[in-house]
Amino acid sequence: MSPVSNRKTLQSARAIENEAKPGAVFRHTKAVRSDCVTAQSMRAWQERPDIDNSREVPMIDTIALLRAEHVNFAKLLDLLDEQLDLFHKGGLPNYELMLDIMFYMTHYPDLFHHPKEDLAFGKIKERNGSVGPAVEELMKQHALLKESGERLVADLDGIVNGSIVPREHVEGPGRTYVVNFRSHIEKEETELFPVAAKLLRTKDWSAIDAAIKPLEDPIFGKSAQKRYAAIRDQIAREAGFENMAASRPD
Ligand SMILES: [Fe+2]
Ligand SMILES: [Fe+2]
Repeated sequence: MSPVSNRKTLQSARAIENEAKPGAVFRHTKAVRSDCVTAQSMRAWQERPDIDNSREVPMIDTIALLRAEHVNFAKLLDLLDEQLDLFHKGGLPNYELMLDIMFYMTHYPDLFHHPKEDLAFGKIKERNGSVGPAVEELMKQHALLKESGERLVADLDGIVNGSIVPREHVEGPGRTYVVNFRSHIEKEETELFPVAAKLLRTKDWSAIDAAIKPLEDPIFGKSAQKRYAAIRDQIAREAGFENMAASRPD
């Protein structure tokens, strides 16, 4: 396996990560139809000049936000899958891109999206015991995704920094991660989000939002972090979202 010349340690990556600015904060104060909000429409909403995103922002349904984030995560899983295809065919995948994707997965979904869901799922389990098994399974999946994601970050970081990492440490676990994350999203959207929409009220979402420290999405948010520029460029190329590349930070 060829080492990648442009080395980037986790330590330096985390220093970049710390550049994150507390920015747009979504707060649930009024329900909107969740299927009306897409990642694109949310981004357009974020960029509205009449809204000050540095302060608490109203009018967004938390389930709509979670669904929109799923759309974003799915794009990254597709990119990761493409790199794993290259890897499987004996080509030279972009290890830095793979590392950046997994670094994001372990620093945004694992730290903000999933904990918010854990709180929501815990509340609906209290109110409807019949969803208990699904809630427990999804919470277990959150923990497993975090563990497997962190292992992938460690192995990819080793590759980027010139370590010899056996092929089976990346390809199999990478494929499993992609498959598990996709099925996790599907289960949430089909089984628990509809229940949460029925059982949780504004005050529940307000309590959940207050419990999870908000962070602007470092890839899809308005002030995307520099370390993720390559991912944004790749998404723009593949999906034709030229506006994403145009708004890339300097
Ligand atoms: Fe989840
Ligand atoms: Fe989710």
